[in-house]
Amino acid sequence: MTAELELATKKLDRNGFLDIDVDPTLDLIAEIERLKKEKNAIILAHYYQESEIQDVADYIGDSLGLSQKAAETEADIIVFAGVHFMAETAKMLSPSKKVLLPDLKAGCSLADSCPPHLFKKFKEKYPDHIVVSYINCTAELKTLTDICCTSTNALAVIESIPKEQPIIFAPDKNLGQYLVKKTGRDMVLWNGACMVHEIFSHERIVKLKARHPNAKFIAHPECEPHILEIADFIGSTTGLLKHTINDPATEFIVATEAGILHQMQKASPHKTFIPAPPNNNCACNDCPHMKRNTMEKLYLCMEYEQPEIILPEWVIEQGVKSIDRMLEISEKAGLGLAK
Ligand code: 13P
Ligand code: SF4
Repeated sequence: MTAELELATKKLDRNGFLDIDVDPTLDLIAEIERLKKEKNAIILAHYYQESEIQDVADYIGDSLGLSQKAAETEADIIVFAGVHFMAETAKMLSPSKKVLLPDLKAGCSLADSCPPHLFKKFKEKYPDHIVVSYINCTAELKTLTDICCTSTNALAVIESIPKEQPIIFAPDKNLGQYLVKKTGRDMVLWNGACMVHEIFSHERIVKLKARHPNAKFIAHPECEPHILEIADFIGSTTGLLKHTINDPATEFIVATEAGILHQMQKASPHKTFIPAPPNNNCACNDCPHMKRNTMEKLYLCMEYEQPEIILPEWVIEQGVKSIDRMLEISEKAGLGLAK
């Protein structure tokens, strides 16, 4: 081990990533491709990653597609270009594989909004309820969950539960309220939210729509109810992407993390995509957690196989049941991998 690597490894917990200087003349794309082959590694990237990372990934998808891919891959190493809860999910589904995350501090405000010790107490107040948790939660929260869901399969998951069975839905109150409205079920909601999807300005979107009368306004269900109310279409990241491909409109105002615009533009180069404006003056609908990953960190984590996701065995054993249940329901509902 070089002195630089030894020092970077010691600082890993504090920094969240291997802070090693990368030669600026290095062809990172070629190096990453080489490491993939040499190590039989697969790169799974969420749509919210920066464009360069999406372009070097073997699979790009939403939370459901990524977990399905993590469950079926034959690679020895899963490199997860996404956030911590996603890499944890991959580890739970493929515990014998090495799962790497370029930056361990790529967290999630939604997952952070539901600390397991507080949720445990909350759950005790509703002993007859079953727990459905959005996959955007910690591995430990999954051990307190009966069925996980993502934005793609949330409706199918709720509809798979008998009508008389009361439900707690955690941690996203906005997705929860959307599901209450769609299904007519009176669910108990945990009060969590995503910092990126709560930033959109109703007033500025209405003004933007007026300036672009032919544009369709599309939104992710993590957005607040007053934003969803004015949407022409609501869907998960994959749902939104497919909609922009299939809908004849040529202009879209998009209320979700701006990273998805890269795939929308690639799939429909003749169409125009406008990020929905946030309620402040900067272009802040980038997720700061997702964007902690960079090409340099991706290269370093593949080269040195650090930082790695390690989970206690009991967390994997107890938590994976809720993810397996979700995957079964998705398969029955025909909700498969996005391409
Ligand atoms: P989906 O990937 O299910 O669309 O969720 C979006 C998200 O916020 C992921 O962090
Ligand atoms: Fe979490 Fe929101 Fe970022 Fe997704 S976009 S990782 S839900 S903070």
